[in-house]
Amino acid sequence: MNISIFGLGYVGCVSLGCLAQNGHQLIGVDVNQTKVDQINAGRATIVEKDIDAIIAEQFLQGRIQATTDFRYAVLNTDVTIIAVGTPSTPQGHLNLSYIFGVAEHIAAALMEKDSFHVIAIRSTVMPGTCDKIASLIEEKTGKTQNVDFAVASNPEFLREGTAVYDYYNPPLTLIGVDSDVAGEMLRSLYDQLPAEIIVTDVKIAEIMKYVNNTFHALKISFANEVGNICSALGLDSHKVMDIFCRDKQLNISSYYFKPGFAYGGSCLPKDLKGLQTLAHDLYVQVPVISNIHRTNEIQMQRALSILMKNMNRKIGFLGIGFKAGTDDLRNSPAVELAETLLGKGFSLKIYDKNINISRLTGTNKEYIDQHIPHLSRLMVNEGHELLEWADVLVVSTKEKEFSVLLEDVEGKTILDMVRISPNLRESNEYIGINWAQKAQEAPQYVTYR
Ligand SMILES: NC(=O)c1ccc[n+]([C@@H]2O[C@H](COP(=O)([O-])OP(=O)(O)OC[C@H]3O[C@@H](n4cnc5c(N)ncnc54)[C@H](O)[C@@H]3O)[C@@H](O)[C@H]2O)c1
Repeated sequence: MNISIFGLGYVGCVSLGCLAQNGHQLIGVDVNQTKVDQINAGRATIVEKDIDAIIAEQFLQGRIQATTDFRYAVLNTDVTIIAVGTPSTPQGHLNLSYIFGVAEHIAAALMEKDSFHVIAIRSTVMPGTCDKIASLIEEKTGKTQNVDFAVASNPEFLREGTAVYDYYNPPLTLIGVDSDVAGEMLRSLYDQLPAEIIVTDVKIAEIMKYVNNTFHALKISFANEVGNICSALGLDSHKVMDIFCRDKQLNISSYYFKPGFAYGGSCLPKDLKGLQTLAHDLYVQVPVISNIHRTNEIQMQRALSILMKNMNRKIGFLGIGFKAGTDDLRNSPAVELAETLLGKGFSLKIYDKNINISRLTGTNKEYIDQHIPHLSRLMVNEGHELLEWADVLVVSTKEKEFSVLLEDVEGKTILDMVRISPNLRESNEYIGINWAQKAQEAPQYVTYR
């Protein structure tokens, strides 16, 4: 395929060389004449392992050239990759002036082009940037996005120092696009790479790089805080983290990575507090670990403020334990939420078959009677009793039974805190605690390979 790349820095130069090596025809564009001259002399614009040889070889093969002439580049290619810098402003916002500068240039060139053109943003940009660029091009050219051209998000995951290796071995290839034709064209650029290709919504693809890099920074900071505690205790932190990483079920896995309600139970809050106190006693500062509890409190306040905004005062809880399948009410965030709501004058009823069963057998009766007798009086034995009575339903544990119960519900407000994903009727007002739209059973992406 014929591809132009705007920006010949780290990302642009590596993509130029590697896409050419995969058999494509490349035109690099940069405002910096020196970089253009370097490519046209068969030299890389950056220092990276293997890139010199790739650029030299591909230049000799006649697969790469560079220019400052954006018009020439766009008119002679089908896909334009944008890889210009997106530095931070002093306030932490993104400086998108380079991206929009390039978009203006592409729009000017597209005025002279009749065939479909794909613009893939490889630079790291905030959600909504592709839409803005598409609108800008529509405005300048009178063309229609996803008919005459498409703007896709195609974030780059390489790391400097291992950029060429990373290009050929990405964790995955991500394409956010609204046009099937553009999606197929972009997929074909990467079908020689071993990684899975994921095609998803444009804004989801745009946010992924931020989510990834923030998590990477969190991993490093968490490991450092654990390391600082371990060294104060005279322990080898590398042994500790090595064993930590051996647990592929709960630690290094997708477990616990589902946005939803606060954590609770008898272990997480207690042991988190324990490690925090140990650090405090050792005079070790652990701001990441110390603020985990604060985030959990904010998650509880979030549920509370959603319910407070709603004018209906009759709230039915589906589930009150700290997770599905348990009768343990100790440190259940749903109990705390229910108690706060009672204090604010809401009427409550609660259905949780685990708690009712335990009341019958008496295993948890003592705890309930001693600590939360007022909640015990609010418990109902039948889910349907609660559904008929309540105006608002709060789903706080992911019991299969609740999905079935909710299928018949009509005209209620439903606050879903566990992504219960039932087939809800349209007459309900559905609120996901921290997802924007109706819960869907299937993930919203298509994978290839
Ligand atoms: N460097 C990395 O490791 C890395 C990894 C993944 C993603 N990214 C992201 O990719 C983007 C590019 O990063 P980089 O490190 O390659 O940047 P860079 O600064 O090395 O290169 C950007 C290039 O864009 C050129 N440029 C600026 N305006 C231009 C215009 N109007 N037309 C053509 N060229 C123009 C500059 O002259 C420069 O050569 C950033 O958004 C960055 O966050 C970088």
